[in-house]
Amino acid sequence: MPRRTPGRSTVAIHGNQPPRAAREPVAPPIYQSSTFVSPFGSHDEVLYTRYGNNPNQLRLADRLARLEGSDAAIFVGSGMGATALAHLAVLNPGDHLLSSAWIYGGTRRLFLEEFARLGIEVSLVNPDRRREWRGKLRKNTRAIFVETPTNPLMRLLDVEWLAGLAAAEGLALLVDSTFATPMNYRPLEHGADLVIHSATKYLNGHSDVIAGAVAGSTKLVAEVRERMKLWGQALDPHAAWLIERGMKTLGPRMDRHNRTGLAVATWLERQAKVRRVHYPGLASHADHELAARVLDGFSGMVGLELVGGARAAGRCLKAFRLITHAPSLGGVETLVSEPRFTSHAALTPAERAAAGIPDGFLRLSLGLEDPEDLIEDLARGLAAA
Ligand SMILES: Cc1ncc(COP(=O)(O)O)c(C=O)c1O
Repeated sequence: MPRRTPGRSTVAIHGNQPPRAAREPVAPPIYQSSTFVSPFGSHDEVLYTRYGNNPNQLRLADRLARLEGSDAAIFVGSGMGATALAHLAVLNPGDHLLSSAWIYGGTRRLFLEEFARLGIEVSLVNPDRRREWRGKLRKNTRAIFVETPTNPLMRLLDVEWLAGLAAAEGLALLVDSTFATPMNYRPLEHGADLVIHSATKYLNGHSDVIAGAVAGSTKLVAEVRERMKLWGQALDPHAAWLIERGMKTLGPRMDRHNRTGLAVATWLERQAKVRRVHYPGLASHADHELAARVLDGFSGMVGLELVGGARAAGRCLKAFRLITHAPSLGGVETLVSEPRFTSHAALTPAERAAAGIPDGFLRLSLGLEDPEDLIEDLARGLAAA
């Protein structure tokens, strides 16, 4: 019988685990060791947890590579670490990066403040003006960075088109796919060179670990690994073990996030006090067609604007009982945040308004609770708004 390729949920649970022998533990041990015994007189790779070759780190990386369809992957100490190291793997002082302007606020600060200090220039492109990508190209442009779906408007970028441009100009294409996870979207299948995750979010899924990941070719991931070793960004083995445990349920968790996301967004759009719902699964979303074509699910992330603006949003937040006011996303519990105080705090109100994120914009990360309970809590919040 020809061997079927295992489905993504199976891969997330088993990785490349061979059938277990009698008495073997079903759950992997945690190798909470900073170092490993070296053979005498050997030039073989030294095993040291900061080098990213602890068994817990390796198991996890292998699992993500299989899910993203990449040759290699690596986990590091945070999503910001993953973004920084992925870029340092492809950029040198004097190089220029073209980045989408629709990115997480921390990433924006990394590019505009830290990269400037390293002599790496960054131009921000408004993806709604496709011509800007070519217009802002320079002789020293070496890479393109985008986030898709974006935070917090859930806009979709056309990675295939960008990959065409990157290939024609000899640039590396880096994609932050945190909001999608490999269950909903795999950027490498659409021509990206490196995919970046804040594993703090959906990959781990339980709001109890800070981590990041990068997946791509063996050569590029080896570059990331070298930068990780020298900039000291390795992931602790216990954190790696927790993420592996979290990733085992990535398939069913994303199924549920996708279903709840669509149900709640559809309900919200019908409420009189709601001005606008940003969810790519809704026909009203600017990128619905592209999203329906390229995504396997629309996730549990929903952007919300209320008729009463910022004051109404404040009243709504205080009325929630189940929905927790906290930054971050992708966990089992539903969280709500205001991007003006969290991910987009570094932007001026005018910059935020221009980016389509007015004061009072609420970002919901819908968790795994019963959707009826979430709708009841949302109704409570809207009644107070
Ligand atoms: C899309 C995106 N990328 C990267 C990050 C940074 O991740 P971390 O907080 O794990 O460093 C975040 C954090 O919110 C994010 O939303």
